[in-house]
Amino acid sequence: MQNNRLSDFPYLGFGLGLRGDHLDDILSDSTESVDWFEVISENYMGLKGDGHSRGVQTLDQVAQKFPIVCHGVSLSLGSKDELNENYVVKLLKLIDRYQPRWVSDHLCWTGVHGEYAHDLLPMPYTEESIDWISEKILKLQDRLKKRILIENVSSYIEFNFTPMKEYEFLNAVLKKADCGLLLDVNNVYVSHFNHGIDPYDYLDSLPMERVGQIHLAGHTLTETHIVDTHDEDVIPEVWDLYRYAIKKIGPVSTMIERDDNIPPYQELCQELGIAKQIASEEWGNVS
Ligand SMILES: [Fe+2]
Repeated sequence: MQNNRLSDFPYLGFGLGLRGDHLDDILSDSTESVDWFEVISENYMGLKGDGHSRGVQTLDQVAQKFPIVCHGVSLSLGSKDELNENYVVKLLKLIDRYQPRWVSDHLCWTGVHGEYAHDLLPMPYTEESIDWISEKILKLQDRLKKRILIENVSSYIEFNFTPMKEYEFLNAVLKKADCGLLLDVNNVYVSHFNHGIDPYDYLDSLPMERVGQIHLAGHTLTETHIVDTHDEDVIPEVWDLYRYAIKKIGPVSTMIERDDNIPPYQELCQELGIAKQIASEEWGNVS
């Protein structure tokens, strides 16, 4: 078990993504099934109302009771556009109001020249793109005055010109930008299934001391590919990868993402119980 992890991302236990439909269950839950919540930053950035809008009221109530972390989906760190200053200003206000334990976004691009693609698009794995995404992450960290986590994304196709492997690219960015990794174990499974390669080699290559958070999720199997839909339970093969990863990482904040076909809160808590069981088998008791 490693003890030299980045201190910017302390162990919070087991979390879920915040869903407004679950609010009453979350606030009345006395079972302590969930330790923290992840919030999609864009859902709460720029909300007006000074506490009067439903979104602000929801987050105010949850943040009073639980630690939260902020997860961005549209900053497009991998595009060659300049860092979106309008976004950063709104994010800083969100951070100021809720004091999230950390902020994360993706190792991807989501558009260019101001056009938004509504998808998390994979990077070209080149030296040039290492430089530009790292520079942008460094600028963001400088503005936020804190390290961020970047998340590995699912991919379905590869660029024709790919001089390095994804894990080599990821390792280089983590080092050059000096940031942390949000390891999405389901994304590792999805991408490696789609490209017909071994996900365990990928996990073996990562700097585990930089992993600050783990995502788990379900997906959809089509005739030819797996699509990262977050609308099903986590499958056994992904639980196996999770066990393998956390054995190397040690205690790391873990959560399940569920964005569609969302079950009742208690069902998600039960699924989170599987992660807790695996973690207790690998780590023993952790406080
Ligand atoms: Fe994820």
